[in-house]
Amino acid sequence: MSHQETEKVYPPLPHLPSHVGIIMDGNGRWARKRGLPRLVGHRAGVDNLHRIFRAAVDFGVPILTVYAFSTENWKRPEAEVRGLLSILKESLEKEVDELHKNGVQLRHMGSLDPLPVDLAQGIRDALELTKNNNRLIANIAFNYGGRAEVIKAVRCIMEEGTPPEEVTEEMISAHLYTAGLPDPDLIIRTSGEMRVSNFLLWQGAYAEYWATPVLWPDFGKEEFYKALNEFALRERRYGGLHEGYSETED
Ligand code: IPE
Ligand code: IPE
Ligand code: MG
Repeated sequence: MSHQETEKVYPPLPHLPSHVGIIMDGNGRWARKRGLPRLVGHRAGVDNLHRIFRAAVDFGVPILTVYAFSTENWKRPEAEVRGLLSILKESLEKEVDELHKNGVQLRHMGSLDPLPVDLAQGIRDALELTKNNNRLIANIAFNYGGRAEVIKAVRCIMEEGTPPEEVTEEMISAHLYTAGLPDPDLIIRTSGEMRVSNFLLWQGAYAEYWATPVLWPDFGKEEFYKALNEFALRERRYGGLHEGYSETED
């Protein structure tokens, strides 16, 4: 990927997450702070995504899942929803070739059904074009909701005629949009909010959470590194005890 930012050197980290989820929040406030319409913030937010894709490649994070539009975001005023859909369409048309050239594999999480036909087709084409790329998996959650995703998985398992006692965690995972991908190790939320807002409810069971007051359009490489650095210091126990625990400690 191109290196337009003035390159600061970031010390390598002892371990990196294999999969990072980002709740890209605060576009509206970013615009309002500047006396601009909310849609200007959404445009700045989409532009920022490319910066973060580049940073992920530079840092060596192989999978990013970004929350761009939730199943609940349809509640917003029609003009904002329409604007968001058209920003996505424009950006897809403008950027897909560049993303493809840079080895990004685009994926989509959520339902394409309620989207305008040309946008849904544009997304399908982009997924098809980039499906064999492996430099970065960029999973875009658009019209995504964690609860809707679990319902979809359960319905599918029932339709397959699986007896209830044979339903396993692995089976549910395999019926989610993230099938085949590892669970996120780290979930970042920008804009100071401290909630999950229906993002990766199942997959995030043991994710490390990290929040920053920085608004999404301002969330740059340096802030991303801060999150990765803190992640590297976290101790993950998955309900067990710390690594190397010995009973003599009691
Ligand atoms: C995040 O920014 C993008 C979407 C949810 C589509 P917001 O639009 O939620 O921005 P704030 O939270 O109102 O500042
Ligand atoms: C979460 O942000 C959804 C996305 C970032 C796409 P929201 O702004 O919609 O979340 P709430 O309403 O503050 O929980
Ligand atoms: Mg918000």
